[in-house]
Amino acid sequence: MADIIKSDKLTFKYNINSDTPKTALSEVDISVSSGEYLVILGHNGSGKSSLAKHFNAVLLPCGGKVYVDGMDTSDEQLLYEIRRTCGMVFQNPDNQIVATITEEDVAFGPENLGLSRKEIRSRVDDALKTVGMYEYREHAPHLLSGGQKQRIAVAGIIAMRPRCIVLDEPTSMLDPAGRRDILNIISDLNKNHGITIILITHHMYEAVNADRVIVMDQGKMVMEGTPKEIFVQVEKLNSLGLTVPQTVELLYNLNQSGFNLPLDSITLDECVDTLASQFCK
Ligand SMILES: Nc1ncnc2c1ncn2[C@@H]1O[C@H](COP(=O)(O)OP(=O)(O)OP(=O)(O)O)[C@@H](O)[C@H]1O
Ligand SMILES: [Mg+2]
Repeated sequence: MADIIKSDKLTFKYNINSDTPKTALSEVDISVSSGEYLVILGHNGSGKSSLAKHFNAVLLPCGGKVYVDGMDTSDEQLLYEIRRTCGMVFQNPDNQIVATITEEDVAFGPENLGLSRKEIRSRVDDALKTVGMYEYREHAPHLLSGGQKQRIAVAGIIAMRPRCIVLDEPTSMLDPAGRRDILNIISDLNKNHGITIILITHHMYEAVNADRVIVMDQGKMVMEGTPKEIFVQVEKLNSLGLTVPQTVELLYNLNQSGFNLPLDSITLDECVDTLASQFCK
């Protein structure tokens, strides 16, 4: 499948013209296929957000290249098309809401695309229904819960009809129910709408259903594989300052006490089956 995002030896430094430039990304090569669900993990400061900001040209490479659907992000003339192709959702929903009425907030992006009133209306309604917030369309967003606000922020991006959405820790300020809602929406966008998802998270369990996981450390991509391939490497992840999903942790701890259970039972169902076959004979 064609790559929707590709980086080629991407290097990025903050404060590049100062005496103390800070290297955030170092020769990163990444390809993301159209329709893929990719999760990016990594310790604080490993370069995840810096990487994500290159995917819709919020940051531009100091070295190497980034292509979005084949478009070179350093070509200023392509900026509009790049941002239409790849939308971003950030951690804090309060920073992403610009209007005082929910549906006006969702309409903000499409309005800037110069679409007809009818097309805007239909996109806004579809987006609000997709995130389960249609009945709140006339509410004031600042009175909604954190999870509901984040759903509105996601709707605002969906209404732009991007082919790829990058989400930088979208659930980190939410309670478990809000977190589950956002993850279900992300999964639906990927499975049923064919939107490429790049999800950055500190919650390991959010990675178990991804097609692929990459792990960043000190500005470099240090691990890459399916969730099972990544999470069986418990000690390596620990050495990078990361944990594993509780499922794997439980199996790992049992193995430390003498059992020999497969660590790749990463989903809850798989883990329950593995434990049942061991202990319920
Ligand atoms: N605006 C900035 N100016 C200078 N250095 C920065 C800036 N933003 C990030 N950095 C540095 O760049 C490196 C990568 O930061 P980045 O925010 O990309 O990491 P991250 O993996 O997203 O971290 P976190 O998990 O805390 O969100 C870190 O060393 C960070 O201190
Ligand atoms: Mg970050």
